[in-house]
Amino acid sequence: MSETTPHRLSGKRVILGITGGIAAYKTAELIRLYKKAGADVQVVMTPTAEKFVTRLTLGTLSERPVHAEIFPENELGSWTKHIEFGLWGDIYVIAPATAQSMAKLASGMCDSMLTAVALAARCPILVCPAMDHDMWEHPATRESVQTLEGFGYHMMEPEEGELASGLIGKGRLPEPENIFKRTAEIIAKSASKKKGRLAGTKVLVTAGPTREAIDPVRFISNRSTGTMGYEIAAAAERRGADVILVSGPTSLEKPEGVHRINVTTAAEMYDAVHKETDAELIVMVAAVADYAPANPAQSKIKKGGEEPDLDLQPTRDILASLGAGKKKGQTLVGFALETDNGEENARIKLEKKNLDWIILNNPNEEGAGFGTGTNRVTMMGRDGTEEPLPMMEKREVAEFILDRVLGEDS
Ligand code: CTP
Repeated sequence: MSETTPHRLSGKRVILGITGGIAAYKTAELIRLYKKAGADVQVVMTPTAEKFVTRLTLGTLSERPVHAEIFPENELGSWTKHIEFGLWGDIYVIAPATAQSMAKLASGMCDSMLTAVALAARCPILVCPAMDHDMWEHPATRESVQTLEGFGYHMMEPEEGELASGLIGKGRLPEPENIFKRTAEIIAKSASKKKGRLAGTKVLVTAGPTREAIDPVRFISNRSTGTMGYEIAAAAERRGADVILVSGPTSLEKPEGVHRINVTTAAEMYDAVHKETDAELIVMVAAVADYAPANPAQSKIKKGGEEPDLDLQPTRDILASLGAGKKKGQTLVGFALETDNGEENARIKLEKKNLDWIILNNPNEEGAGFGTGTNRVTMMGRDGTEEPLPMMEKREVAEFILDRVLGEDS
């Protein structure tokens, strides 16, 4: 344990949710670590978890009564406890999280104190799964993980090793020491986030390409990898913003703390973006397809038959529609990908789409555009400013862009 870790958790309130898996016994050690660091611990458990570990043990270690039922017998008036706990905690740690409990959390079920607290919680939630290897790999569990990540929950990967079934594989609950460290990291981050320049600000970022189906197998797309948009989302999150990232298909990991909504087509991106137009800052980085096949085939197109009908129709311009309905105080930022007459074309787009900023880049330039770790962009403002930035890592470019948009020096 590092010297500073106990200090971070000192005085913090940890809600520990225990579900019914054999690894539940390890939570006794986890409670001990939290308590030693000076944290207050409130245990909630599912009724099944009681088959593996007793309330007496957990209540004694945490020095607080343990709650399991949402409607406890003989306790009139205590049924709103889940709301109380949801407001009380600085973090909600669910360990071990079984496949069943994750499926319930993913679908918003609240049939126990543990699941109800998750819906009511205003604090970060850390989920630490533990189950047998095949259950972890099952598509249903994969989907639960994705949904929970989409909610902005923090997920810990299970560890590899011998499992309770005797099989070897991935599925072991991370060691209490590791869960403890991760808890401290999340608490530290959420504390600094509250102080960030964008604290309390909703930021919407789009990233990646879109895919427009030709038939069930083929699609029209582009070379965007999503990196620039993901870096902007992560940079806004580091400054304390509540970030929604609407992402086309990419192989990138979701930046920690960002709420990601996955979409495939330009039409889906349009709908997802238009549900979030109350964002104070919107940065459209996505390389949205301008055209989509008008009549995608329902079956795979076979060669040798009729010539395929690739009649294309224009997609809706998402950014132009945001510009047309721009809200008071809202800042709109677009990207312009230009190979010729960059400045001129970018300024036309800025005016036409009613933007505050446009970021010009040229995919043909070395170290810029798609699939590179770096970018070289020119920032163009509505007030006529034009600033070519040097070639930098995309992470740095993202910081520069936010500095300029927020009127800060870099
Ligand atoms: N954009 C959008 N919806 C579209 C197409 C583009 O919101 N259907 C956004 C992009 O995310 C980007 C900006 O508009 O922020 C400019 O995109 P770009 O591809 O450079 O320009 P287009 O407007 O598509 O024009 P053209 O392809 O003719 O250059």
